[in-house]
Amino acid sequence: MDRQKMMAMAERVYRDIAGAMATGLGYLGAQSGLFTAMSGRGPMTLDEVVAASGLVARYVEEWLKGMVAAGYLDYDADAHTFTLPDEHAFLLSSEGTDHYMSGMFGMPPPLLAQAPRLLRAMREGGGVPFGDFAPECRQAIDVMNRGNYAARLVDYWIAQLPATCATLTAGGRVLDVGCGHGHAAIALAKGFPASEIVGVDPDAASIAEARAAAAAAGVTVKFVHATLDAIPLAPRFDLITVCDSLHDLPDPLAVLTQIRARLADTGALFVIELKVSDRLEENRHPIATMFYGFSMFHCLTQSLAHDGAGLGACLGPTKTLALFEQAGFSRADVLTIKSPTNLFYVARP
Ligand SMILES: C[S@@+](CC[C@H](N)C(=O)[O-])C[C@H]1O[C@@H](n2cnc3c(N)ncnc32)[C@H](O)[C@@H]1O
Repeated sequence: MDRQKMMAMAERVYRDIAGAMATGLGYLGAQSGLFTAMSGRGPMTLDEVVAASGLVARYVEEWLKGMVAAGYLDYDADAHTFTLPDEHAFLLSSEGTDHYMSGMFGMPPPLLAQAPRLLRAMREGGGVPFGDFAPECRQAIDVMNRGNYAARLVDYWIAQLPATCATLTAGGRVLDVGCGHGHAAIALAKGFPASEIVGVDPDAASIAEARAAAAAAGVTVKFVHATLDAIPLAPRFDLITVCDSLHDLPDPLAVLTQIRARLADTGALFVIELKVSDRLEENRHPIATMFYGFSMFHCLTQSLAHDGAGLGACLGPTKTLALFEQAGFSRADVLTIKSPTNLFYVARP
């Protein structure tokens, strides 16, 4: 046995358990308001953090020390002060922006809570349906994505389709399939006020959140609690979006075929999927590891719960493009949009 290789693996296991615990500490930091309480404040004593957060001192102390150990906070051993560096605050306490990362801390707790059921499904088949995950899971997906939709969906991503933008600016029709809490549809409504925007999702709780979010944003979006067959074939849509949802669909091919039937001849299907390589050997990095975890504990199992295709979240571009072809689209491409986490596709009927 190569002892060094064994020791490196032991180190790796410690690092991964530490990562899981740092995720928990990050979740508490975001949800309790600790990151926000420390943002832009420079060095703070324990008492100052307690006063700024209004939380129980002993918990705050343990959290601060854990976050120093994890490298999230700086610590001055002489002054006994804790600092959330501005560069870290930029990522950790910037909710609503496209650089906010704390939303991701919300994913592992509800996902890992289903580990015993997942183990049973691995032995017996089936899976954990979308609605059986704690509501925090929907919230986490929403918080992870919504800053990007607000900042980028219209101005950068859909902007890659100039003819579609021109149609929608003049007044066209848009459908967001698997709309979740509705923030992609809301961004489209804000970006194209002359267009009619529809969102569809079979999850009732998501549609309720989406309707409330649209009302709060002061935009008109028709959110439909249904699957796509409830959307009439005419009038057809100029743009149909599927954001972070294609891989979750129990029958993606059927839905893509239904989408194609609802697209205008000059229309476009715009799909956002996770960025993974077709080649497994190129996926040896933290982002792909995270995505395989999300896939195993959420995307894959909730599809298999419905005897679905079980694509998983890490489909990769070749298989994704093949799906468009199988659904009868005449042409599909990966768009040249830079992102560390997403791939963007456009398909034409
Ligand atoms: C990962 S969430 C993404 C939500 C949202 N688009 C976003 O980007 O935040 C996937 C969504 O697909 C929805 N979904 C599942 N099966 C569906 C189906 N057959 N038709 C439409 N949406 C579906 C789920 O209810 C869920 O809201």
